[in-house]
Amino acid sequence: MANKNIRGEGPRPGKGRKWTFLIVIVVLALLAGGIFIYRQISNRPVDYSDIREHFKYGSIGSEPANGIPYWIWKVLPEMFPEKLPGQGYASLGLIVEPGKDTPIGFSERTVFIKRVGLNCSVCHSGTYRESPSGRATLVLGMPANKFDLQGYLNFLGACAQDQRFNSESMLSEIDKIGGKLGFIERLVYSKVAIPRTREALLQQTKDLDFMSAAPLWGPGRVDTFNPYKSLKFHFPMHKLPPSELVGAANLPAVWDQKDREGMHLHWDGNNTSVDERNKSAALGAGVTPTTIDLPRIQRVADWLWTLQAPKYPFPIDQQRATRGKPIYEEKCAGCHSFGKAKVGQVTLIGEIGTDPARLNSYTYELLCNQNTLFAGYPWRFKHFRKTPGYANRPLDGVWLRSPYLHNGSVPTLRDLLEVPDQRPKVFFRGYDVYDQQRVGFRSDVSEEGGKPFFRYDTAVPGNGNGGHLYGTEMPPEEKDDLVEYMKTL
Ligand code: HEC
Ligand code: HEC
Repeated sequence: MANKNIRGEGPRPGKGRKWTFLIVIVVLALLAGGIFIYRQISNRPVDYSDIREHFKYGSIGSEPANGIPYWIWKVLPEMFPEKLPGQGYASLGLIVEPGKDTPIGFSERTVFIKRVGLNCSVCHSGTYRESPSGRATLVLGMPANKFDLQGYLNFLGACAQDQRFNSESMLSEIDKIGGKLGFIERLVYSKVAIPRTREALLQQTKDLDFMSAAPLWGPGRVDTFNPYKSLKFHFPMHKLPPSELVGAANLPAVWDQKDREGMHLHWDGNNTSVDERNKSAALGAGVTPTTIDLPRIQRVADWLWTLQAPKYPFPIDQQRATRGKPIYEEKCAGCHSFGKAKVGQVTLIGEIGTDPARLNSYTYELLCNQNTLFAGYPWRFKHFRKTPGYANRPLDGVWLRSPYLHNGSVPTLRDLLEVPDQRPKVFFRGYDVYDQQRVGFRSDVSEEGGKPFFRYDTAVPGNGNGGHLYGTEMPPEEKDDLVEYMKTL
């Protein structure tokens, strides 16, 4: 009764004003809804105008298919710290720059929700230090000498297998680390993102299960082709001969691609096209034929085309180096210097004599399947071949490419000039302090600050340090001269 009286007494708004008001409200609501939907469904990578930043943090298109929703990725190390070897993602050997939201090698893109994926720099950027107390110098394009990719994959798998990987527990942890999810985003995380991500990670772990029978990769290495056989082509991994399932290879340096055009590269020289090497590498980062971001990969490729290896930053004994130069020219340049006849060619496995596992892991069956990828697109793969050995690679910036050979089985340049019996049988990987005497990273240190380094045993399948006997017959003095000269490459 009282209400009716009050309403009845008040002035009634005019009819025109009421309609204008309604229309404005509807238009605003539509606009807000439109912006909201556009923001949600539009495909928005985070972009960087500086090419170095793009290389470090820019997208190559891995997020939509294989990325992890941002807040899940962010909360995992907080929620499951016991599954990491140390504090946060950095403990996997990833490089974290101050003030950055992700480590180097992780890009962000929003497709409905923000996702995090891998890019080229996760495998192709590293650091070196002059001494344990020295500052780390970041080098883009060098091998990711400290990054334990298998450790990262295992961490994700272990998280997914944990009962706490469920919407309720995870959302409450996301709240604790300051994730301010709006109503709809919360709903999406709860009903879709968290259960789906868990499912996908469990499936990936299952697909990669065959790796538990093979030796660990350790930091700075990845089995290039076996995960590919399983994840992309669903090969029956347990039916393949065990000898084919070991293929851990060093992450290579990727500078100066221009001078490498037409060379048989990848460790076994299985592809002569720089362009296809770039694209096949992107597949390794989780890009798929439908999500591949060609313009953004091209930006990286254009930059790598002429990127030069950094010069050796420590003192060089010029007299020794001068004596070493003709030795290099005589014994090594033919296979390893730009412009020489055999560089970029493949040396038969019987002649080179290094560990055959990586060569054998790349099979004719895989080759046939790779040729079906991107079928129908102008950029489909056409240049993969099965080769009978390992490639003679240019040695530019070789000082930053330790440990040496395709499987990283020889810690320093000086060690490579000894006969295999005299090369270190067991050493440690994952340290970035430089050994200026023997030229390579220090490999005699088992831990730093309580974090153990990876123990590399050359007796393990795929880890053999035999072969490549060039120069091993020289007297020690000449070996020292040659190594001194190689600092200048
Ligand atoms: C998951 C780690 C990883 C990522 C991510 C990655 N690569 Fe690589 N890349 C490798 C490995 C390992 C090889 C060597 C493969 C082999 O021969 O076994 C390689 C080889 C290459 C080569 C050939 C080098 C040579 O001299 O043989 C180029 C060029 C290259 N990558 C560029 C790229 C680009 C460009 C991207 C990003 C679009 C990228 N890579 C992303 C691991 C990676
Ligand atoms: C007949 C060709 C040939 C000659 C001559 C040759 N090499 Fe090699 N070299 C190779 C091949 C092939 C590989 C790759 C082997 C592997 O990774 O299993 C290699 C690998 C290397 C590597 C490792 C590169 C890396 O990125 O890890 C170094 C260093 C090297 N050679 C130095 C030398 C030196 C020094 C000499 C001269 C004393 C020399 N090579 C002579 C063919 C040759």
